[in-house]
Amino acid sequence: MNFKKSVLSSFETYLPERVVTNDDISKFVDTTHEWIFERTGIERRHLVEKNQYTHDIAVKSALKTLKSEGIGPLEIDAIIIATATSEKRCPSTSALVQGIIGASNAFAFDIQAACSGFIYALTVADSFIKSGIAKKILLISTETLSLFTDWSDRSTCILFGDGAGSCIVKENDDDDDCGIIATKLYADGTKPNLITIENSEKNNNHGHLTMQGRAVFKYAIEYMYKSMIEILEENCTTFDDIDWIIPHQANRRILESMSKMKGVPFEKIAITINEHANTSSASIPLVIDTYIKSGKIKKGDKLLLSAIGAGLVYGSALIKL
Ligand code: UT7
Repeated sequence: MNFKKSVLSSFETYLPERVVTNDDISKFVDTTHEWIFERTGIERRHLVEKNQYTHDIAVKSALKTLKSEGIGPLEIDAIIIATATSEKRCPSTSALVQGIIGASNAFAFDIQAACSGFIYALTVADSFIKSGIAKKILLISTETLSLFTDWSDRSTCILFGDGAGSCIVKENDDDDDCGIIATKLYADGTKPNLITIENSEKNNNHGHLTMQGRAVFKYAIEYMYKSMIEILEENCTTFDDIDWIIPHQANRRILESMSKMKGVPFEKIAITINEHANTSSASIPLVIDTYIKSGKIKKGDKLLLSAIGAGLVYGSALIKL
């Protein structure tokens, strides 16, 4: 069978209006702007307001994507949402969004692959397009990690931000070679305690995120690099052929170390962690949208996406935009 490629279009994002700086955080935990910036590259983050939840910010991003695409909600036939921070165990965030935006022809479900959620969701969307299960998919990554943060723990509360990013995945009708070239997913479930958000009733930790930061830092370098180099080799490509590397934004030093230790070209790595902090699965669409809107990423650019998150689950994607 001769499959057409799935293309990505109409990247949009929504960031909550409340901006919290490192200095703001230093007012309630023992930290400083200098420590946070030097150790992570983070300067500020957007956090949801009281009574603003994961599906609310997803809706705002989704409506912008529909507008950019020039379509109504009834033209969408699937909504796939990547999130690790659903407001409810059920219904899913995607079902809530489907109802609110009135996408009544769409089936809807969530994917939970922590910070790798966008790449996992992209892989599923790509398969649905290629198999004909769906023709036009609304893909959203949406996270409110601030609602799962222990705001008295300085080792984690400085790291995270909230936000949502979305795009359309559809069959490429144009006579070009744009689209998803390949995706590659991995899991190493032998390290479940490195990053955890317990159910609120367990371990008396009130559903807060806990993390072994140093160990995660090392695995992030090894596993993101492994998934990037394997997808490049399998597709007869090298870093020279890539316009932009779009990694999950967990820590600027992870990206600097990956460059120093493994030779990943730093000038090609897109970085927005200073503005957004770590927004889990939303970080990759936030970077792509920011770089498109500022003119750095252009139509036809070749992108190499890579992420790692709790699980550990990780993966990469190769895309011609
Ligand atoms: O998206 C999920 C993936 N997550 C990640 O990839 C996170 C990966 N890990 C990291 O980004 C880093 O490990 C952190 C930013 C979380 C921590 O940086 P680090 O350089 O690994 O610091 P550390 O945990 O080894 O702590 C060094 C020191 C400790 O003090 P002592 O024991 O040396 O006296 C900490 O208590 O820094 C202290 N510390 C802080 N000091 C000021 C920890 N947090 C803070 C803070 N402000 N916020």
